[in-house]
Amino acid sequence: MPTTSPDDPWSAVADDWGRYWGTFAQPVWEPLLRTARIGRGTRVLDVGCGSGELLEHLQDRGAVPSGVDPSSRMAELAQARAIGVDVRLGDFERLPFGDGAFDALLAVNALQFAEDQDAALAEAGRVLVPGGVVGLAGWAERARNDLDAINVALAEVDDDEPPEDGPLRVEGGLADVLRGAGWDVLDDGVVPVAWTARGDTDLVRGILFGEADSTIADLAPVVLDAAAPFRRPDGTYRLMNAYRWAVARVPT
Ligand SMILES: C[S@@+](CC[C@H](N)C(=O)[O-])C[C@H]1O[C@@H](n2cnc3c(N)ncnc32)[C@H](O)[C@@H]1O
Repeated sequence: MPTTSPDDPWSAVADDWGRYWGTFAQPVWEPLLRTARIGRGTRVLDVGCGSGELLEHLQDRGAVPSGVDPSSRMAELAQARAIGVDVRLGDFERLPFGDGAFDALLAVNALQFAEDQDAALAEAGRVLVPGGVVGLAGWAERARNDLDAINVALAEVDDDEPPEDGPLRVEGGLADVLRGAGWDVLDDGVVPVAWTARGDTDLVRGILFGEADSTIADLAPVVLDAAAPFRRPDGTYRLMNAYRWAVARVPT
């Protein structure tokens, strides 16, 4: 069983991430890949590849993907899923690949975890060929996410405020970051992203992934109550959320 370490906080939650959230971002893959013109033979690096679902999709499209993630368990899961793909351990800020190794770089729900985003973007530019493309995607602002109702309820338990929207979540935020790096933004947008749970247990475990069993038991009633509006007659849940995306070209 992977353990949590300050240097590798994602390994302890990697299996649950894959189970409950691994394909969640799928609706944003299509505009990213289309705008970045990723197809057969494109050499593409997925940064913060998590449990490897996008790597597998890129393989299916005939692209030549590589993955990088600082979490050893995430990298292990990605390697097991995307057989034959070069998956390495590493941070966005220090990509373990050579200069000009890729035609495209994608980072889905990952840039916000880089402690030094300028260094991360500089690394993206370094590993791309001249004229290569960068695609970023991540959660849109809270107001667009049904999940926010649950986060608000959980924050209230501790008398906390739910986390504020960061600059990457709001309209134009990702494009501004890419423009700030000196790159030509090709397009950006927002897509609906549904999160579904098969029933109460999956709902609670998916929302509280990574928490101890005792915490999950304590907070289950809060989650179930806040999610009641999203419960369907068959007992499943469907929460509509949104992801923003932006794609830019680095100079030739
Ligand atoms: C929310 S998950 C997203 C995983 C995957 N991209 C997806 O969309 O399902 C965030 C991932 O970013 C990774 N991560 C955390 N810090 C990072 C960093 N500094 N550089 C690159 N990846 C990082 C985590 O290990 C984790 O796998």
